[in-house]
Amino acid sequence: MSLQKNIEELRELKAVAEKGGGDAAIEKQISMGKLTARERILALLDENSFTEFDLFVEHEERNFGMDKKVLPGDGVITGIGTINGNPVCIYAQDFTVMGGSLGLKHARKITKIMDHALKMKVPCIGINDSGGARIQEGIGALAGYGEIFYRNTMASGVIPQISVILGPCAGGAVYSPALTDFVFVVENISKMFITGPNVIESVLGEKISQEELGGARVHAETTGNAHFFAKSEMECFEQIKTLLSYLPANNTHKAEKLAVKDPVFNKHIEEIIPSDPKQPYDVRDIIRAVVDDSNFFEIQELFAKNIVIGFARINGDTVGIVANQPMYLAGVLDCDSADKAARFIRYCDSFNIPIVTLEDMPGYLPGVDQEHAGVIRHGAKVLYAYSEATVPKITIILRKAYGGGYIAMNSRHLGADFVFALPSAEIAVMGPEGAANIIFAREIKEAEDQAAMRELKVKEYTRKFANPFVAASKGYIDAVIEPSEMRDLLIHTLSVSKEKEDYRPVKKHGIPPF
Ligand code: HXC
Repeated sequence: MSLQKNIEELRELKAVAEKGGGDAAIEKQISMGKLTARERILALLDENSFTEFDLFVEHEERNFGMDKKVLPGDGVITGIGTINGNPVCIYAQDFTVMGGSLGLKHARKITKIMDHALKMKVPCIGINDSGGARIQEGIGALAGYGEIFYRNTMASGVIPQISVILGPCAGGAVYSPALTDFVFVVENISKMFITGPNVIESVLGEKISQEELGGARVHAETTGNAHFFAKSEMECFEQIKTLLSYLPANNTHKAEKLAVKDPVFNKHIEEIIPSDPKQPYDVRDIIRAVVDDSNFFEIQELFAKNIVIGFARINGDTVGIVANQPMYLAGVLDCDSADKAARFIRYCDSFNIPIVTLEDMPGYLPGVDQEHAGVIRHGAKVLYAYSEATVPKITIILRKAYGGGYIAMNSRHLGADFVFALPSAEIAVMGPEGAANIIFAREIKEAEDQAAMRELKVKEYTRKFANPFVAASKGYIDAVIEPSEMRDLLIHTLSVSKEKEDYRPVKKHGIPPF
């Protein structure tokens, strides 16, 4: 046979295998408003950059009629390509092939590409669209999941790992995304749950739809499992490209520097922060006012809105921003916002991304609900994450920094490299009203006009403690600055910190309050 004939035969074999589960299954996929696995990969990667691996891998299961089943690619497409010109490893489960269910060979294709990503030190992206463990394969499928989880853990903090949920992600399948860094969901398409509605109905007698149980909004708003929510698959792919543009390829690199487009900086931060400390404002307006080109890429925008996290650039370099959100629950720390912030701080630290903290918050959220939900355990994660991080850490206190919140939000005492405060800052053990009510309780009680006395004492406390100058006099903050100085100070301190080295005691690993 001539080489030309071989080539033609290869093309025919490829064409058949690339059809996945065939026309009817593809029709069904499209009717559900979904792209096919192959279309997804091609839409996400740079044009003509995809090289597929293991198209001809076959399953070896012989039970339950599987000996007669041909499963092209064993239900998953794997390979390498580029995004924004940078290499990535990728896999996409093909729901048209036996519901994208995961058998041993399917799993081994995934672990092979994960091993490749870890060895080549490039990001790994997994597109999930699967009915979970392939029931006919039993233990083989379970083994496969375990091998994926192990690799997710080994790669954690070494290469960026991204999970995209574009269909069902049921049963044990949910744990690979949960072990990765960022989870993307799409409205009406993503469904994530450990036990599906049918099991819930038969065991608990409760009826619930897949959407209500674990749809995209549930995970973006309520559980916090998802980091990015999109209205369409194409929007989701744009979000992934943007995210990757802020990240290094691995933990030995820094993210690529990008030129500032608009060097003219003329934002009036003093007009954003109200003079009345009880008035809320949107801290994202402050963030946009100090970062390059006002571009802020927010993470977990819909979850635990009392804290805002995300990536931006300052003078071209990626920074992670952690900011209390006075617009939502006055920006308090509670169980969810503590989890959200702590995980992000650890992410930035793993990938050499300096952390900028903007603080305006009255402390931890009080109440039985929070205490019983474990605010001590969850809140401790923030202390741990900031203390542990060795990347440059800069804090600017915008307004309130009360009590435990003052300590937790990257205070000098937890190892901040630079701490600045605006003149509007109030650094105190608690809010002036609460403090005056306690320490001047007798004077207020004995006064003829209790309200007037309370007001007087609140003013006295405010004058004495609710300002940045007591902390400044002790060296806990480095400078009281004007709002117009914020951006230049960030640029300056980040450039001074470029070669920062900070050491920790040698240990296998710490025991964070997981
Ligand atoms: C084998 C499966 C499958 C599975 C789907 N299919 N899931 N085959 N193992 N897990 C097959 C179907 O039989 C069907 O084959 C085809 O894929 C398409 O599935 P449909 O049911 O027709 O699709 P749809 O109506 O869209 O429903 C999708 C679904 C449903 C909600 C995901 O298929 C479903 O509930 N699947 C089972 C989910 C589940 O319980 N998984 C196991 C979890 S246990 P045909 O031939 O008809 O086209 C688990 C433990 C792992 O994951 C623990 C690891 C730690």
